[in-house]
Amino acid sequence: MKITKAVIPAAGLGTRMLPIARSVPKEALPIVDRPAVSYLVEEAAASGITDILIITGRNKGVIEDYFDYSPEYEDKLRADGKEARIEELRRIADIANITFLRQHEAKGLGHAIAKARPFTGDQPFAVLYGDDIIFSETPVCAQLIAAYEEYGRPVAGIKEVPPELVCRYCTMGMERLEGNRYRIYDMIEKPRPEQIMTNYSILGRVLLTPEIYDVLAETKPGAGGELQLTDAMKVICRREGMTGVDFEGKRYDMGSKLGFLTANVERAVHHPEIGAEFTAYLKEFVKTL
Ligand code: UTP
Repeated sequence: MKITKAVIPAAGLGTRMLPIARSVPKEALPIVDRPAVSYLVEEAAASGITDILIITGRNKGVIEDYFDYSPEYEDKLRADGKEARIEELRRIADIANITFLRQHEAKGLGHAIAKARPFTGDQPFAVLYGDDIIFSETPVCAQLIAAYEEYGRPVAGIKEVPPELVCRYCTMGMERLEGNRYRIYDMIEKPRPEQIMTNYSILGRVLLTPEIYDVLAETKPGAGGELQLTDAMKVICRREGMTGVDFEGKRYDMGSKLGFLTANVERAVHHPEIGAEFTAYLKEFVKTL
């Protein structure tokens, strides 16, 4: 079945990004001149996704506004004879059918995904975590879709992470299928050191089948008192297995201050408008450190 739907959970509190998260959602923080979530929508659309559900919550209204038309800017640009820029702005809203849903209470990623059931129906769907931005040659979402088409099982985008981070993320029990693909037979969210199976964690992308909803309905709150998506995927792994894709691409955690800044510096040096000037500035600046 062709994958045409994606869900972007963006309703988390973002406590690691306090105090700014009180009024600016981490998913709306910019990488140079565009909010993080816009890179996710671009990635999904470039992977063949036509319908996107963004799950938001209180104080996240700016995410919705970004994907709307903006007549006040269009009038100004038209008056200034800059029609081409209008097309550019409209493209942001027209790139996919984007709908929004509120989670009401941030009770965990699993709780957010459970809300997507009426949207995804009986179709498999991609999930792009709202604060994980990945730049790659082939969109990561497309890399996961290719693995689903080949193996027919739910898919997780995985990467080896430094050992000290595994306990903060999750650990995979897995064996190699071929190349960068693995069969995942177990996973544990926020493992204790003695529970670590491998240093591979899920980083920001999964592709799920509708079976996840019944499992989520049975899943009890886990780490941090939240309904953890990993706990439900663990059941699927132990039952039928998932496919792990050690994806090609560089990931930035926009939910952390360091990830946010790294993404901005690394993208700014390549930015068509300010790249050269920023690089020159940066070279001078590092000499002063
Ligand atoms: P995180 O665990 O990184 O988000 O969830 P968080 O809970 O906001 O982070 P901290 O620990 O408080 O800083 C990954 C993605 O899932 C979304 C988040 O918005 C983020 O994009 N999420 C998380 C929800 O949509 N709802 C939730 O209840 C939790």
